[in-house]
Amino acid sequence: MKKIFLTIALLCLVAVNGHAGLKVLGNGNSMRFDPSGFPSSMRTNYEIMKVKCVRCHTLERTVVAITTGISPITGQPFDRNAIRAYGIKMMRKPDSNMTKQEVKATVDLMNYMLDESTR
Ligand code: HEC
Repeated sequence: MKKIFLTIALLCLVAVNGHAGLKVLGNGNSMRFDPSGFPSSMRTNYEIMKVKCVRCHTLERTVVAITTGISPITGQPFDRNAIRAYGIKMMRKPDSNMTKQEVKATVDLMNYMLDESTR
């Protein structure tokens, strides 16, 4: 019996740790991702996101979309397809002030973070 409890406790620990793959700091308008555990290429991409993706709204929107898997405005699933579609939208918007490379960097980053948050 004791062994079963131990196994369950261990599994819970693994589950909690698995979720810690993506860390979030702050709340409300100051909500942002914690890039300390990111590989260096993703840290570079996050530097772009931190500057380019806060022109029209705060990072809270992106954090909520990634961590819940639901697009906060449209209520649609925020999956790889939604990420791609949003990237294309930003690329076409002249007022997004983003180059194709910058959009790609943030799309790659969102895909990476989505994987981390569902690990
Ligand atoms: C030009 C202004 C602008 C910039 C720059 C911008 N956004 Fe947005 N964002 C919007 C608007 C407006 C919406 C509302 C829904 C829509 O139009 O898609 C939105 C919605 C969102 C949503 C929610 C989508 C939904 O369907 O609920 C996410 C996530 C998001 N933005 C992330 C980002 C990221 C990541 C970046 C950087 C690549 C970014 N935004 C840059 C204007 C912008």
